[in-house]
Amino acid sequence: MENQEFANFLAANHRAILDKAKLFEKIFDAIGHKDFWGLTEFILLYGMILYFKPKYILELGRAFGNSLYTISIAADSLGYQPELIESVCLADTIFESKKKVEAQAGYNLNPAIKITTRNFLKYDGSAFLNADDILILYDIHGKKLIRHFLGRYAPILKQKRHLAIFHDFSYFPGMTKKDFLLVKKNDPLNYKDHCCVQWEGPPPAGIVGYDEVPELLNYVRKRRLTLNFPYLSLSGCLDACYLRELEGFVNYRKGFSTSLISVTF
Ligand SMILES: C[S@@+](CC[C@H](N)C(=O)[O-])C[C@H]1O[C@@H](n2cnc3c(N)ncnc32)[C@H](O)[C@@H]1O
Repeated sequence: MENQEFANFLAANHRAILDKAKLFEKIFDAIGHKDFWGLTEFILLYGMILYFKPKYILELGRAFGNSLYTISIAADSLGYQPELIESVCLADTIFESKKKVEAQAGYNLNPAIKITTRNFLKYDGSAFLNADDILILYDIHGKKLIRHFLGRYAPILKQKRHLAIFHDFSYFPGMTKKDFLLVKKNDPLNYKDHCCVQWEGPPPAGIVGYDEVPELLNYVRKRRLTLNFPYLSLSGCLDACYLRELEGFVNYRKGFSTSLISVTF
């Protein structure tokens, strides 16, 4: 993917994105679980799907389905039918959301979406491993899970047209593994074995994601891969003094902060 292509994806579809943002907000209200996902993430993911038009979409970690509804609205809007959209999650809480969203927002999930309730560690995924043109949304967290993901999926992603998006991940230039502090066990939805990760280095300090962050960052650094931040806040989590360091390593656009990044493998 060209850097410029990445930087342009929101501008290309801004009207379509704004048109659908209201629908998403209605759905979002009906679901009632705003802690995982917001309008910013909707705008970014919806914009990416519309722009890149992936043939295959795999969602890892759906919980109550905010991100899945984002994917669904994008699939409705595309001028083509994706070949496969699959959402994999341990939890089956989506069925609760489906009832609420149908009743309160009058919206039905795109029928092409395959919902499966399973453990990613035991998921075969061969449809995706053999596919071209994949977008993967990774939102399951955990050290073991990211290792599995990087071992099994990253080599494939490298060879194909691909986009992997990671949720709940902030990055500050200069971060190294030793600067991370694992702060607490966090178990709202089957989180048995992973923790929040805190940045201990110089300001801006704060929670930067979950314990997959150092694993992913190490992987990306070792291979000199590119992290893409669709929009980055200069006033919020990042200081202007970091900008020179960011050049060439991270694609960024001035705007609002985000907890969604993508990696070009
Ligand atoms: C942060 S939530 C996902 C939020 C969701 N994307 C949204 O937009 O609301 C993470 C989800 O990952 C699921 N999960 C955790 N470990 C998993 C595993 N090993 N396999 C599949 N799903 C897992 C949890 O059950 C939880 O529902």
